[in-house]
Amino acid sequence: MHVCFPAEEGVFLLFVIWTTMLMRGPFVYTFVVNGKRIETGIDKKLLQFLREDLGLKGTKDGCSEGACGTCTVIIDGKAIKSCLPSTAKMEGKSVVTIEGLNEREQAVYGYCFAEAGAVQCGYCTPGMIMSAKALLDSNNNPSRDDVKKAIRGNICRCTGYAKIEAAILMAAGFFRENLPLPTVSNNAHLTQRFQRVDAVAKAMGTGIYVDDIELAGMVYAKALRSAYPRAIVEKIDISEALGHPDVVRILLAADVPHNKIGHIVNDWDVLIGEGGTTRYIGDALALVATRHQETLGEVLSLIKVDYTVLQPVTSTAQALAEHAPPIHSGGNVLTTERLKRGDADTAIANSAHVVTMKYSTPFTEHAFMEPECAIALPEEDGLLVYTASQSVFDEQREIAHMLALPEEKIHCQAKLVGGGFGGKEDMSVQHHAALMAWYTKCPVKVRFSRQESINIHPKRHAMEMEFTTACDTTGKLTGMKATLIADTGAYASLGGPVLQRACTHAAGPYNYQDIDIVGKAVYTNNVPGGAFRGFGVTQSCFAIENNLNLLAEKAGISPWEIRYRNAIRPGQVLPNGQIADPNTALDKCLLAVKDAFESNGRTGIACAFKNSGFGVGVPDTGRCALSVEKGIVHIRTSAACMGQGLATVATQIVCETVGLDPEQTFCEPADTRRTPDAGTSTASRQTVITGEAIRRVAVQLKSALDASGSLENLEGTEYYDEFTALTDPMGSEKPNPKSHIAYSYSTQVVQLDEKGKVSKVIAAVDVGTVVNPTAVEGQVEGGVVMGLGYALTEDYPIEGGYPKAKYGTLGLIRATDAPEIETITVANEHVASEAYGAKGIGELSTIATAPAVQNAYWRFDGKFRTSLPLEHTAYRK
Ligand code: FES
Ligand code: FES
Repeated sequence: MHVCFPAEEGVFLLFVIWTTMLMRGPFVYTFVVNGKRIETGIDKKLLQFLREDLGLKGTKDGCSEGACGTCTVIIDGKAIKSCLPSTAKMEGKSVVTIEGLNEREQAVYGYCFAEAGAVQCGYCTPGMIMSAKALLDSNNNPSRDDVKKAIRGNICRCTGYAKIEAAILMAAGFFRENLPLPTVSNNAHLTQRFQRVDAVAKAMGTGIYVDDIELAGMVYAKALRSAYPRAIVEKIDISEALGHPDVVRILLAADVPHNKIGHIVNDWDVLIGEGGTTRYIGDALALVATRHQETLGEVLSLIKVDYTVLQPVTSTAQALAEHAPPIHSGGNVLTTERLKRGDADTAIANSAHVVTMKYSTPFTEHAFMEPECAIALPEEDGLLVYTASQSVFDEQREIAHMLALPEEKIHCQAKLVGGGFGGKEDMSVQHHAALMAWYTKCPVKVRFSRQESINIHPKRHAMEMEFTTACDTTGKLTGMKATLIADTGAYASLGGPVLQRACTHAAGPYNYQDIDIVGKAVYTNNVPGGAFRGFGVTQSCFAIENNLNLLAEKAGISPWEIRYRNAIRPGQVLPNGQIADPNTALDKCLLAVKDAFESNGRTGIACAFKNSGFGVGVPDTGRCALSVEKGIVHIRTSAACMGQGLATVATQIVCETVGLDPEQTFCEPADTRRTPDAGTSTASRQTVITGEAIRRVAVQLKSALDASGSLENLEGTEYYDEFTALTDPMGSEKPNPKSHIAYSYSTQVVQLDEKGKVSKVIAAVDVGTVVNPTAVEGQVEGGVVMGLGYALTEDYPIEGGYPKAKYGTLGLIRATDAPEIETITVANEHVASEAYGAKGIGELSTIATAPAVQNAYWRFDGKFRTSLPLEHTAYRK
């Protein structure tokens, strides 16, 4: 049997005694945790003590630096971030964690958070509840403002806070009136406000995220990152580091069977070796494993690297300049897109009104609450990998490629995902955990610190855009031309498809035909650009919608009117040539917000559309199996839920189709051995693509159930189906290519108060059939608040290739700055056949916000702003 700590056991034991002595001061600290007296000589941060020494994993570690609130506990009646004080400061104090809530509190908070729809990824939720408890214990009749203030230190990246505030106010009512809890509805049919299937476990801290897992003999790994964005690595000297008593193994590029991996393009080095040239400060040079997490930093500091430092390429202009140093062997242009229909030059030349403007949008950070974490361990003659990603099959493929192993030897299993928003599509920690586990034959955990997460994973692309848009005297759009240059940073990631979506949506959801759009994704030595909610459309929508407002002014009509006159309607042709489906309801979105827009002169408006599914001819298949096991229908699909609620959508589609109660179903977590490959959770595709696969397989089960009479009679049976969306590729010769299987539409109105602060956002959305109204509102509220951050406060500055952001300076919107958000769902009577006519909502909700905010400020103070985040506002001077 392999032993994970075979070498120099004596030295190791001495080391353990030494580190224990160091951690144990001369004092014993006595305090109470959840009613139990604790005596310890260990002096460490309270958060780590709770999680590592007491096993209280409900308290989450989102940043370890006091900036996010996921670690909130109650100390002597006050909500405190447990990552800040050490155990030495706890002497005589009383600590309550989420596990310490009494039975009534657990029931009330669990019910209220689930019922209000306050839980999405769930990573912030236990901390939120502890802040709520600190408030309600002293004031059981708070105002909404009291609630906002109480959770001001708790960031939620998913929900937009409104439903969290509602949950806390609801809980206050139950405590105040001592009301019994109602029975939870088990009506999981479509269109019902059915409680998320995972809400209570996440809220109470019992749901398992990867970092909550500890395994016997586990070692910890971390990569040494490049000190420079662009430098030749001349020598890596690990000799001193190898002498550290806690080291298990150090791996270098030569140890990696296939050193180039990538989500789409294999251009990303697992480790950069001697003689290689770094491409950004996130490049890994050596991978260290130690027996104790605490010693990783020490060992990494003992590795000596000789560099020849080179001038980094830090802008797309530099990268495209003649004689620019090539960042990859194929040059600095990752991809070029051209979308041309009709004759834009002539259409523009013959138009009554023409505007040309340049726009600039920044890199932005996903800031999902759960930093990346993966564990890999030996399984049979391969590896088992616990992950928190957007597709277990993509991880399997990339890890197998890296290790030159058949894919079936890599078994990937998803744990809860604490938010993704596109930022967990690429390999970040998974491949390094797998590589180290393959060599050491030990369980290996790799976890990013918050700063590593900020510095390393791909961001929303910064883009420079020039848009020319034209209309006739009545405001009817006639033509447009655009160039878009995307900074895709050091590696391709999803830069190609992101640029493509930016281009395919650049003309907006309007009825005109003469367009000429050119886009380039350009490598630089900046942090890579990749997938991020909105997927390029957030950027191009900002440009086209602003141009529309300028045209409206020239044509003498209102921003609402120009949109209403041009809005795409069923049967009309989108600028990309696709005929709009009968279910297209953008005009209804506009009508739904007309009064709100016209209510005063401090409002702004914008429209957006977003594809559901990969589209453009890319193979796009959703898959699902149903199996009857011990009387329960297991829903098995690899479609990842990273907070958006896919498991609940799947449950509702099965219950609707088969006529089951939700207790008769169980949606399994994604697992490459149990759940069929449903592709990655991206492109707002899972509700439509996998949703239709689920509906189809559920129809099979329904037939079998009708024939057999009971689930018991179907024990042990299994059903399978899939759905492939057929679309036409970019550049198709067809006059009306079907670019995407479905589009969702939205119009947002942003209202400012007299001081120029956003007081309300009204979002009308056409998402077809609403599977779950609470979930759709949650996606809209969270998406709008993320869009407000993009418009007003968020930034990710990079200077000379070095990111300057810290978690606390990202500009994430807090509860006290989140305005009221009203969601209006509209739909045409005609519904599509796929997935009961549901369309994607995940990305749509974020896209229109920034241009609507820009429009509101232009109308408010007369300044037309062309870059994000907007300057000279109440949020940013
Ligand atoms: S983990 Fe303590 S505030 Fe973020
Ligand atoms: S539910 Fe709050 S961060 Fe995800």
